[in-house]
Amino acid sequence: MNPGIYRRNFLQFLVASPLLSADEKAEMKGILNVMDFEAKAKAVIPPAHFGYLSTGVDDDKTLRANMAGYNRIFLRPRRMVDISSCDTSIELFGEKWPTPIILAPTGHQKAFYVEGEPAVARAASAASHLMILSTMTSTPIEEIAKIHKRPIWFQLYPTNVWDYSERLVRRAEAAGCTALVITVDTQGGRNTETEARSVVLDSRQCSACHPTRTDGGRGRHAKPMFQGFDMNILTTNNPSLTWASIAKYRKVTKMKILLKGLESSEDARLAVENGVDGIVVSNHGGRAVESGRGTIDCLPEIVDAVQGRTVVLIDGGIRRGTDIFKAMALGANGVCIGRPYLWALGAYGEAGVAKVLEILRNEFALAMRQSGTATIAAITKSHIGMHRI
Ligand SMILES: Cc1cc2nc3c(=O)[nH]c(=O)nc-3n(C[C@H](O)[C@H](O)[C@H](O)COP(=O)(O)O)c2cc1C
Repeated sequence: MNPGIYRRNFLQFLVASPLLSADEKAEMKGILNVMDFEAKAKAVIPPAHFGYLSTGVDDDKTLRANMAGYNRIFLRPRRMVDISSCDTSIELFGEKWPTPIILAPTGHQKAFYVEGEPAVARAASAASHLMILSTMTSTPIEEIAKIHKRPIWFQLYPTNVWDYSERLVRRAEAAGCTALVITVDTQGGRNTETEARSVVLDSRQCSACHPTRTDGGRGRHAKPMFQGFDMNILTTNNPSLTWASIAKYRKVTKMKILLKGLESSEDARLAVENGVDGIVVSNHGGRAVESGRGTIDCLPEIVDAVQGRTVVLIDGGIRRGTDIFKAMALGANGVCIGRPYLWALGAYGEAGVAKVLEILRNEFALAMRQSGTATIAAITKSHIGMHRI
């Protein structure tokens, strides 16, 4: 690739304006589905950052398995049902949301678009989507909590220093968050090869964008949530985390506690026994362990194990309204999306995120109407089936 192209893209990236140009508006009219955002995002996001966005682990098999899992499920539409009104709303912990589509926590959003999290929060808030903010946010939580008109949730990477973890939790609660989503799937580390290959394609100097790096270049630098922490001792994948840790978190917060990254019925049962309020069935978008198993394939055993005793959300590979429908039919209480809104953010900023969410809402409502299900409660296992392979 020509370094000149990177340079031009990077300059474009730096001067990105919240307002779309006439060309961009025309271009966006041609966007019909979530996947259409990816090519544009790849063209404008610097290669190393796009590598970080797209990477899975090892051979990216789990990343592909997430999407492939949905292809094995088909819909069993029912006819002659009154679908003249279609109610997509859900309730989570007593809070009503007009859509089950939730923004998954993703870090470093300013790496994809100059404004980052505020642009995402405005788009999410405008259509009342629940947003989960990452520990690795490039904008302080207090700012995002103010932008979103409804309470957001905070995703916590449990750190290796209890005092730091506790401070993060208390800061999120003070900012008005109502739920703490503890990510537990990167405890063992990870091997992001696709990202590593992209980094060497990038001709820019990392230090130009990462001047505050304080850890000898190991890739972690002081994010807003780590203010006042000693970056030389902090790690965000705490290897000594166990079920006993849940009680410690419970003692320091009134927020609901969810675990993100469970993939088995055994862990789902333990989550219930340890008083967890919710589970996010997730493999970090194929970015944690190369299990080779898509999350939609993990969902049934987890729903079966918890028997309605906790909220169950799912993420990974959701790209169509029909995917959302399939997850809801298998018992999810809501779905989270990651890469699609990041592609849209990189491509068109806030307007892109608004559009990607609108596409998914419309596709999901269409899938509901076409299947003869006018409410979320009407969506059942009988509305789907599995292809034999
Ligand atoms: C660029 C990127 C950054 C992410 N950052 C975080 C994070 O900070 N915390 C976290 O719990 N999950 C993180 N995730 C995982 C997402 O929350 C989510 O599990 C995943 O993106 C869902 O899969 P999908 O991208 O196929 O929709 C990240 C994912 C991506 C793609």
